[in-house]
Amino acid sequence: MSIQIEAVQAEHHESGFGIGHSSPRLSWRFTSTDIKNWKQVSYEIVITREGAKEETYKVDSEDSVLVPWPSKPLSSREIVDVKVRSTGNDGKSTDWSEIKIEASFLDRKEWKANLISGPAQEKKDEPKKPFRLRKSFTISQLPNKGRLYATAHGLYEVTINGKVVGDQVLTPGWTSYKYHLNYQTYDITPLLQQGKNEIVAYIGEGWYAGRLGRPGSRNVWGDRLGFIGQLELDDKVEVITDESWESLMDGPVKNSEIYNGEIFDTIHDDSTTKITGTTILPFPEAELISSDAPPVRRVKEVKPVEIITTKSGKTILDFGQNLVGWIRVNTDLEGDELFIRTAEVLEHGELGVRPLRTAEPNDRIVLGGKTKGWEPKFTFHGFRYAEINGVNPTLEDFTAIVIFSDMRRTGTFSSSHSMINRLHENVVWGMMSNFVSIPTDCPQRDERLGWTGDIQVFAPTANYLFDTSGFLSGWLKDVYSEQQYWKGVPPTVVPFVPPNKFNDPWPKPHAVWADVVAITPWDLYRSSGDLGILEGQWESMKLWLDKGIPRGENGLWDPLAPLYADWLDPNAPPQYPAHGRTDTHLVGNAYLVYVTSLVAQIGKLLGKPSSETFKYEQDAEKFKELFQQEYITCTGRLVSDTQTAYALALKFGLLRDEQLERARERLEYLCKWNYFKVSTGFAGTPILLPVLSENGLQHIAYRMLQERDNPSWLYSVGMGATTIWERWDSALPDGSINPGQMTSFNHYALGAVAQFMHESIGGLSPLEPGWKKVLIRPQPGGTITSASTSFSSPYGTYAVEWKITGSGKLKVSIEVPPNGSARVVLPGLEEDDIGSGKRSFEVDWEKDERWPPKGIRGPQSVFMPDEFVP
Ligand code: BGC
Repeated sequence: MSIQIEAVQAEHHESGFGIGHSSPRLSWRFTSTDIKNWKQVSYEIVITREGAKEETYKVDSEDSVLVPWPSKPLSSREIVDVKVRSTGNDGKSTDWSEIKIEASFLDRKEWKANLISGPAQEKKDEPKKPFRLRKSFTISQLPNKGRLYATAHGLYEVTINGKVVGDQVLTPGWTSYKYHLNYQTYDITPLLQQGKNEIVAYIGEGWYAGRLGRPGSRNVWGDRLGFIGQLELDDKVEVITDESWESLMDGPVKNSEIYNGEIFDTIHDDSTTKITGTTILPFPEAELISSDAPPVRRVKEVKPVEIITTKSGKTILDFGQNLVGWIRVNTDLEGDELFIRTAEVLEHGELGVRPLRTAEPNDRIVLGGKTKGWEPKFTFHGFRYAEINGVNPTLEDFTAIVIFSDMRRTGTFSSSHSMINRLHENVVWGMMSNFVSIPTDCPQRDERLGWTGDIQVFAPTANYLFDTSGFLSGWLKDVYSEQQYWKGVPPTVVPFVPPNKFNDPWPKPHAVWADVVAITPWDLYRSSGDLGILEGQWESMKLWLDKGIPRGENGLWDPLAPLYADWLDPNAPPQYPAHGRTDTHLVGNAYLVYVTSLVAQIGKLLGKPSSETFKYEQDAEKFKELFQQEYITCTGRLVSDTQTAYALALKFGLLRDEQLERARERLEYLCKWNYFKVSTGFAGTPILLPVLSENGLQHIAYRMLQERDNPSWLYSVGMGATTIWERWDSALPDGSINPGQMTSFNHYALGAVAQFMHESIGGLSPLEPGWKKVLIRPQPGGTITSASTSFSSPYGTYAVEWKITGSGKLKVSIEVPPNGSARVVLPGLEEDDIGSGKRSFEVDWEKDERWPPKGIRGPQSVFMPDEFVP
């Protein structure tokens, strides 16, 4: 038995096909093994370029993640075969593992194609009608290599000879189109035929020109949709978008909007469609990018589980799972018109559409023609239920298609507690629903925007569950571009969408949200080991600290700046989501101290001049002192006597040593006083349980996690949630929908609790960037008697599985990948530098005598419901 390589990867790119890097760094991860303490001592890379002889590179090094490209840079379109093999300290080598890398356009000059469009639509402030652009061409000899490079202002779907090109949807995806526009590279060789061929691009308004926000702005990036296509045969340009294409303004897709769904006519007859010429529009100024982020794809199919007839007589399909995507029609349906309305929940037995606000995620299909296989092209919905009008459905007629930026799943978790398992599932579904091209707040209502605070708090969880490195590092580039335009202030939504009725009139600086510029690159560095991500965002971090943050005279946050802070604290009235109980500036300034010292630390790591880093270091010290003076009593109580305030102060190291004990006691007291119900919003929620656990209050952390009454994580699970809700009580105990505006049933932010499940319950967290070394330290608690977690790291899979036996033992099995290492900490046992392989441990297990902790009842609390003991 020998160690093998599971996969070779180029940069953070999903496959190596159509890569936008000329010198892609290479990484390889190893398959699971029981070979003990295996470390790589050298690696060999063999590169074969067309017509040239093999180049072999042998390097004595332990590095297997993001090693430099050893050969000369790739040129545009070049295909190289790369083979890697690794030799270990046992003298044995792995087999060769291969990746084919194909470069896309590495220079803007490669683009010969134009941005073309059909006639302009007269009324600019109405939804834009989808249209087709078409071109016929003749091939005398079939090529060995056929490629299409394509992008659009709007969304596009291309067919060649009637077959859809590629498996991606919602292309080219969403970016800050002013700065970056993704393009796609397709292998079209099998679609071509000798003789006459036809290429057709269907174009919809998408995010580029469609309505965004509430009540909504249209044409955010422009009011003309367009398509760019460059078709090449054996690396020679064959067809480009130009005036020779035809445009068909009227087609079967009558309308298609992101928020409002699609109208499709199955009896549309193309013979009457007016055909006109095309217009060349100015070529996009944005940088054209072949992104490392995986594209949005159809990743799952979900069948309806039940057909419900409501009191009012409506027919509703229940898919059993809140999800994101659309509905496919599986059969040829008869009738006049099929009208599908979707929603996430039922309220009083009927479709609950109020949370969707002004979005109308409905599809309308004119019947009479073929419906089998129909799916909308340029919209998506967040839903569990679909009201079907116009036909009598069977369960077989419809399937929900789930879409997602198709990242590699890396993290798993499971335990003996079924509700906590469901909560974890809900976090995964919440992530899948909101990683559609960009990280969004929610996928259903008239937002679906790249809210920076949401991803800032959720990123550590996201980075564990899926390989987010290509996805998030790409989005962070947009954050920096937008931030530069707005004089150092990263907008709270990226891509930036102009203000709406309820938004600030221009990008206002917001702690926690804008702090994404430093915290998220740092989280990504920890999960991927890629220093390049930090380097790429360094200027953005500085710009935020130096110019973006509005400060008072002492350097802390301007005391008058309005902040979201602990957004959606459950104590805030539904209509005032920012009016929680923790002083907004306490939150902002706690983050300020943390971010300033983090930037100093990052600067040092990147080798930046000490003149720069020293200033941040000094600032952090100074702000910490100011924070203490302003918000902490000398004994260690905080002026906002809340779970969030204590969690922040403890997490960010804001207390003096002599204040720590008091702060811990008080946090414990507050949790007990609150009967273990959560009273944190966006700022406190992600850190509350980790802080309790790091401060010897493990029993309280478990007790809060296992609480089932509102507000708590398991409340929504008990109410039948299948995704994470925006509010603790998006649905009230009687099943009615929370009257507030912010009542999405699919927001990932509060799901940040999964980090506690991975790190404390499962017991797996990185000690060194990129998971070169990990800490394995399961901390059983509550009523959980077994758990397991695993993470497919850049080195290979780390796994932990534990169980408490009836005879008072804790049995733990672990797995460490080749070239990785672990420190294992268990009760009465500590072992460092454990190398690869599978191992088992058994230690004595003593039950935590503090379990179950009791809540504190104030006098006269006789009407409180009996305390739930898990
Ligand atoms: C979004 C949030 C966001 C918040 C900030 C909401 O409308 O859905 O998740 O972070 O606004 O104001």
